[in-house]
Amino acid sequence: MSIRFDKESQLFVLETRNSCYQLRVDETGLLRHVYYGKGVGGTDMRYREKSSDRGFSGNPYDFQNNRGCSADTMPQEYSTFGTGDYRPSALEAVLENGSRSLELTYAGYQVESGKYTLAGLPYVRGAQQAAANTVQTLTIELRDEIAGISVFLSYGVFAEKDIITRTARICNRSGKTIRLEKAASMCIDFPYASFDLIHFSGRHCMERIPERRELTRSTVTVESKRGMSSHHANPFVILCDPAATEDHGDCYGFMLMYSGNHKEEVSRDQVGSIRLVSGIHDEGFCWLLAPGEAFQTPEVILSYSSDGLNGLSGNFHRILRENVCDTRFADRSLPVLLNSWEACYFDFDTDKLLKLADEAVALGVEMFVLDDGWFGSRTSDHSGLGDWFANEDRLPGGLKVLSEKIHEKGLQFGVWIEPEMVNEDSDLYRAHPDWALCDPGRKPVIARSQLVLDMTRGDVREYLFDCISRILKDAQIEYVKWDFNRSVSNMWSGNLPADRQGEVAHRFVLGVYELLGRIREAFPEILIEGCAGGGGRFDAGMLFYCPQIWCSDNTDPVARLSIQRGTSYGYPVCTMGSHVSASPNHQTGRATPLATRGIVAMAGTFGYELDPNRLTGEERRQIREQIDTYHRLERLIRGGTYYRLSQDVHPYCSWECVSQDRSEVLVSVVCTALEANAAFYCVKLRGLDPDRFYREERSGEVFSGAALMYGGYVLDTMHGDFPGCQIHFTPCAGGIAQV
Ligand code: DGJ
Repeated sequence: MSIRFDKESQLFVLETRNSCYQLRVDETGLLRHVYYGKGVGGTDMRYREKSSDRGFSGNPYDFQNNRGCSADTMPQEYSTFGTGDYRPSALEAVLENGSRSLELTYAGYQVESGKYTLAGLPYVRGAQQAAANTVQTLTIELRDEIAGISVFLSYGVFAEKDIITRTARICNRSGKTIRLEKAASMCIDFPYASFDLIHFSGRHCMERIPERRELTRSTVTVESKRGMSSHHANPFVILCDPAATEDHGDCYGFMLMYSGNHKEEVSRDQVGSIRLVSGIHDEGFCWLLAPGEAFQTPEVILSYSSDGLNGLSGNFHRILRENVCDTRFADRSLPVLLNSWEACYFDFDTDKLLKLADEAVALGVEMFVLDDGWFGSRTSDHSGLGDWFANEDRLPGGLKVLSEKIHEKGLQFGVWIEPEMVNEDSDLYRAHPDWALCDPGRKPVIARSQLVLDMTRGDVREYLFDCISRILKDAQIEYVKWDFNRSVSNMWSGNLPADRQGEVAHRFVLGVYELLGRIREAFPEILIEGCAGGGGRFDAGMLFYCPQIWCSDNTDPVARLSIQRGTSYGYPVCTMGSHVSASPNHQTGRATPLATRGIVAMAGTFGYELDPNRLTGEERRQIREQIDTYHRLERLIRGGTYYRLSQDVHPYCSWECVSQDRSEVLVSVVCTALEANAAFYCVKLRGLDPDRFYREERSGEVFSGAALMYGGYVLDTMHGDFPGCQIHFTPCAGGIAQV
């Protein structure tokens, strides 16, 4: 049993293969956090609890004679505002009488087999594990009798995968309306830890660059208020031992499964205790809960590993690949595609596209994707968004005819859409100006000449569902790229009364999820790739609907090394949209070899984003070879265990995929800072079977797993601009001569 409750000590124990999570009800009725970390073999960890009278940390009224008892110093599971805990709170509500104080005490619990689901929100799926009885759900009810609020904290325990999920459901049991001003998904306290915080921040074209910092007595906030999880701050943070490396040390990961405004607060208090609160951003948020109503927070995925950052990443990769992404796509071979964007941007007609498709076929590409510019008056990014009808001047016969012609060439066909947006210069906007988010009497912020549709409105979602369904039914389409190209602002909706405007940002995300869910259900065979100007919505929430996401609008392979490496801390390779583009690169102007571009794109979904007409004969030959190589290796790449080998991307960036049975390995290396007369680069492999033998494919040389891991593999000297190589090891029955 992965969940146990000891009645006498009121202790809950949640156990996974390598971790243990304990919480308990204390004498005041408070739900205290007791322990999260490496498995402790059934030890009751309450022995670590210590209390003392800390100045200015008050006591619950009934415990005033016990001055060590204070909400301000006890490790908690779900902290509230106003009743003596001065650290960041998880829940803030205003009662009808204006009171903002809340005090939650334990009211009961339930354990069920299987994993809970969430209505209207993405969640980690647990059906298969439920059948195998390896996942259980614990739900604890906390109550504030004066406020008339119940909070149900749910924990999904994936014992085999070292994953625990958390979510909170806040119910109004009073007869009056309650205003929620903050409703985080989780709170956790680490009373004795000294941690570094790693977060993944960045900007458009440079997403998810890891930043590691020591936690001092202050609160660090990782946040997005952009209406999207954002390029700027991914909703994934790691707390780790300051000495933790890629391969050793305690690491904890917290991934919010949400695509909108989010906030992760990490604070270190007066005595060094560390608290993390994660959930929907409270700035601009408020939610009216009428009597009997409930508010469901998004889910957080938690994992602990004592095997360093690679170990932690492995846990997240596995749960996302197997329990969040639609496994029908994650597990199968997907076509190598050519995307039209960097090949022609807005400048195309049918003839040009068909010529591209012919070239694609000759290269061995299997799918042609028509990016932006095929609909309405969309001949630039100034107009047309919202008018989801093919531009027949450019594409006579529309997508139906084009898709038929593409299929006749033996290619599958994919198409770009950006449903949540509208240009002012569009028929949709002219007909429904009120469908765009905008504050009354105010000019909206404009970005890329576009406005954001009010996804809280049922009529907007209905319009989009009809448009998208028509497109997908009329033409033969196997793939959709679902884009989102600006941060949201002016979050005011004509759909909601004045006192509910603080709900717009979250209702927007719920509206997007509803639309995506309906499309997925209606067209389950179509692969949807998420995108938001590249990786602006690269999060576990989107992965629930779109098993892959365009990683970045920056296709420069050298920049991509940083972006994809940063992304890999939380997200598996099979989710990272990655293409070979032209050289010099369109975003940076940097020239790189085609071989290196191929190696980097193979650390993702692999495809092309260039004009094949501009290729030399030699480049065409190389691309055909790359596609063959990718198909030979894709099972290993998509399904293998991924390790970051180098500590950084300079001077070498190296990574590895090891097959699940540890018999086959692919090591990839790119040199980003080549020096003359340089030292040799020796790369130490990870995750192999030390007693097995591996043959290096090109040279035929045989090595033991132990030799490759502990002694390493030494690369030949590299030459030229940004050279790279792939080293493929396959199983080898025979051994090598022993010394
Ligand atoms: C942003 C995307 O990330 C690009 O790949 C491309 O699809 C453009 N939008 C099209 O407008």
